[in-house]
Amino acid sequence: MAKIIIKGGKTLNGEVKISGAKNAVLPIMSATLLCPGKFTIYNVPDLRDTRTMMQLLEITGAKTSFENGTVWVDTNNVNNPEAPYDLVKTMRASFYVLGPLISRFGKVQVSLPGGCAWGPRPVDYHLKGLEKLGANLDLEGGNILAEADELIGCDIHFEFPSVGATGNLAMAAVRAKGITRLFNCAKEPEITQLCEFLNIMGANIKGIGTDSLVIEGVKELNHADITVIPDRIEAGTFLMAGALNGEIKINNVIPLHLEKVTNKLIETGCQITINDDSISITPPENLKSVDMTTAVFPGFPTDLQAQWVALMSLSDSSSIVTDIVYHDRFSHIPELARLGANIKVEKNTAFIRGVDQLVGAPVMSTDIRASAALFIAALAAKGETEISRIYHIDRGYEKIEQKFLGLGADIRRVS
Ligand code: EPU
Repeated sequence: MAKIIIKGGKTLNGEVKISGAKNAVLPIMSATLLCPGKFTIYNVPDLRDTRTMMQLLEITGAKTSFENGTVWVDTNNVNNPEAPYDLVKTMRASFYVLGPLISRFGKVQVSLPGGCAWGPRPVDYHLKGLEKLGANLDLEGGNILAEADELIGCDIHFEFPSVGATGNLAMAAVRAKGITRLFNCAKEPEITQLCEFLNIMGANIKGIGTDSLVIEGVKELNHADITVIPDRIEAGTFLMAGALNGEIKINNVIPLHLEKVTNKLIETGCQITINDDSISITPPENLKSVDMTTAVFPGFPTDLQAQWVALMSLSDSSSIVTDIVYHDRFSHIPELARLGANIKVEKNTAFIRGVDQLVGAPVMSTDIRASAALFIAALAAKGETEISRIYHIDRGYEKIEQKFLGLGADIRRVS
């Protein structure tokens, strides 16, 4: 099994181009299933998850290809509205095909995602919303079977602004009869871009970027092209690597998507320079400890919580990090402890006492963002860190070791 070996302590310096956003491209690729046509998607990151989504589209009968950051999807011959367990278990975002497929075929079979490394992660909002739109649901052999002669617009209130449920139900509703109103929606940039894409396809969604979406069902949708927004989580990860290890400029970003993150980094003493589509960071001599609580957008993203914990483990005193989006997303902490971090977890809060030095050790990735936290810590640690199970990082970070090599890191992949 492949491993990444990082010799820590090298000063990073230089520029890095941020890739397209994983969490934007996955729902956009699913949305191509809504109608027959040929779609072109630009600025697509070459990730395991993108490849898994291509595989899933192929299972439904679509044709896909990928070259130089462009994905082509031909959904003219889609005839199998199904997402099997083998794919859903490797990538929960497969669940995104539920909405588009029921909209187009009036029926769909999607494997029910199980729990994940950091908790149960239910999909009840997706299912309750679909039922409200008029679908009949059954569970058979671990699969959700949904059927509807016609989906009919209705009001849906989310208990929590779920990214996935907002996207899935928006896709289910774009061709429903009448008006669907979604309340307490996710406003994450990736969902905003999905809704914009649906409108380019001919949907009629109002309130995009707010917490209430009003969707008037349309009769027909058409193929469309789109350029995926930059990955704000990859961007934040590189900024945090810079905060510990050197001067970095990240290019091809939308600074507004990272406002909370850059503000927090400024509180730690980092110097941040923001231009139209780039951000530069210079680390301070002493990194200040800064508390952080995750929140939905525009708050500090849960997908950068693990990386923030890694950063704070080398800060000058104590800090408290709370995750209110996922209460059990702390599998990185025992691994960071192996490098010498001093962290205690109680419920959904990590109490971190900064240490002067981390020391390299063999560690294990447990999910995409936990792996990113280990990279950040390993780059700063004294000596060698061997990170195993790196397929997690390959799900969400394009050419990660090449990008860090370009910044001067001592990093290599071994099989
Ligand atoms: N929730 C429910 N029921 C539901 C749906 C969500 O209780 O039906 C709860 C979840 O358990 C969680 C909260 O609502 O406590 C938010 O979950 P959300 O639905 O927003 O998460 P998601 O759509 O499953 C996406 C990203 C995650 C990211 C979260 C939060 C994609 C493909 N995934 O997941 O990204 O952490 O939003 O921002 O967009 C990652 O990229 O590493 C990743 C995990």
